Formats: sequence, C-alpha cells, structure tokens
Amino acid sequence: MKGISLLVLSSLAGVFSVHDNIVPNSYIVELKPTGKHKRDSTSDAHSDFYNSINVSGIQIQSRHNFTSDLFHGTSFKIEDKHKADIIREFPHVVRMWHVKRYSQPKPVKVELVNSPNEVPKKDRFGPHIMTGVNKLHDHGVLGDGVFVAVVDTGIYGIDYTHPALGGCFGSGCLVFTGRDLVGDKYTGDNDPVPGNDILDCGGHGTHVSGILAANDKSFTGVSPKVRLGGWKVFGCKGTTQSDILIQAFQEAADAGADIISASVGGPSGWSEDAWAVVASRLVDRGVL
Ligand SMILES: *[C@@H]1O[C@H](CO)[C@@H](O)[C@H](O)[C@H]1NC(C)=O
Ligand SMILES: *[C@@H]1O[C@H](CO)[C@@H](O)[C@H](O)[C@H]1NC(C)=O
Repeated sequence: MKGISLLVLSSLAGVFSVHDNIVPNSYIVELKPTGKHKRDSTSDAHSDFYNSINVSGIQIQSRHNFTSDLFHGTSFKIEDKHKADIIREFPHVVRMWHVKRYSQPKPVKVELVNSPNEVPKKDRFGPHIMTGVNKLHDHGVLGDGVFVAVVDTGIYGIDYTHPALGGCFGSGCLVFTGRDLVGDKYTGDNDPVPGNDILDCGGHGTHVSGILAANDKSFTGVSPKVRLGGWKVFGCKGTTQSDILIQAFQEAADAGADIISASVGGPSGWSEDAWAVVASRLVDRGVL
C-alpha cells in the first residue's frame, strides 16, 4: 500500500418504510425479576413467563433469553399475532416491543486525491485536521487503555492480515475479543447460526475499525492505541434484528467495553425502543 490510496465511506443503506422494519410476529419483552432466589432471578423470570404461556395454550417459539442484569427478558415468535396482546397483559411483562430489522451500511470506495507517500511527522490526514483529531494526536491523546466494541459486520475479511489492524485476533492483538452471533449466511430472514470467528464479509466493520484504530506506517485512525472487540451482527449481506443487537450490546458490556460503536441503518431513534432502552442503561453505567 503506497500512502493512502483508498478511503472507504459508508452510506445508510436501504430506505425503509416504517412497517418494513418490523419483523412479523416477533416480540421482545422485558420481564420482572421474580426475586424468589436473588442469584437466579432471571432464569426464574424466564421459566415463569414461558410456563404461563404454556398454560395459556398460546403457541410461541423462544428466540433469545436476555440474562444480564442490564435487561431481564426474552424474545419470541408467536404463531398468531392477534394473541400478542394477551401476552402483553401477563403480570411478568414490564414492557413489550416488536423485534425490528436494521440494514447494514454499504461501504463505497473513493479514490483519495492527496495520497501522502511519506509518513508525515505530524498527523496531516484531512479528516483528522477537519475534526481536530490531529491536535489530540499532537498532545499524545491516542486512546491508551480504552476498549471499544465494534458491533457491525465483523472485523478483517480480505484484510485479515492487514498490519494496520494488528494482523491477528485474540490475546495480545489489537482485536482481542468478540463473537460472531449470526454467521456469514445470516440475512435477517433466516435463523442466526453463530460462527467461530468474526471474519468480515460485508466490509463495514473493518472500515469502522480502521477509522477507530488503524495503526500503520502510512495511516493511523482516530485512536490508534485503543483495543478493539468485534461483535458480528450481520452476515455477508442483508439485515439484522433488534434482539441480536441487544445481545451484542450486553456481551460487549460484560466484556468490559468502555465505548460501543454500532453502525446500522433504518428509521427509528425513539428512546423507548427496546435496543435504545438497553443503550440508555449502559450510558447510565458509564459505557458510551
Ligand atoms: C428461555 O428460557 C426458557 C425457560 O427456561 C426456555 O424454555 C427457553 O427454551 C429458553 N430460550 C432459549 C432460546 O434458550
Ligand atoms: C406444556 O407443558 C406440558 C407439561 O409440562 C407439556 O407436556 C407440553 O408439551 C407443553 N406445551 C407446550 C406448547 O410447550
């Protein structure tokens, strides 16, 4: 790579109508902890809830149980959506939401006009100058000791061994933790199948990681001394859903993330949304 030849920009993909982003017949509920056994209150809440459903005879399929103290709850698919209102009235249910769908951003490759061919003494990368990041770099503010979780398409892919992103995964590497929650073949319309690595076939998570933390002779990101974790919530193409995003945020927080970055597209932004509720609770705990 001679200087910087490519800059990858992202755009919000797919403009949805509001109804398109609701996953049919699928819901997230927040459950009251039962408090029977403090240590075990989440699993009690889950079994009480599912037992009541069983007793009521309503057919549902469990999608995911949220077990962290950040959010006690579960997501499920219901056969007959007209019965959803019955579940909403269960005494265990604090709140109920539709599962929502979010699209992945599409990277766009753009040739940079002013590719520097030498390592500059100071940070002279245009976007860093425009945002003032170069001044932080001049003062030695480089993100030391900060752990950023990238909730996205994964990290690496064709750039698996790219020196700017550390070239490896795991202990001692720039990208030291994370998990694939969905698998490459996940499209948002099939079942997620968690994979063994966070290889990025969509490209966007690698691009975000470069902006954040690239550390190479010819290019550095905004904070080249942070450590990264990658939570893969998209397959190679398609969409993801809000219960998977909540799961990723919980895992990132449990892993000790200081900052969580997420790039998803879709109309929303309401602070009452299930994913937003979890994000707000994280902010209250000091996770940005
Ligand atoms: C969630 O918990 C309930 C009750 O313990 C259980 O029946 C169900 O299978 C669990 N769901 C998943 C996806 O593991
Ligand atoms: C409800 O519980 C009973 C008794 O444990 C079990 O036999 C039955 O299969 C359950 N029904 C559903 C729909 O899960």
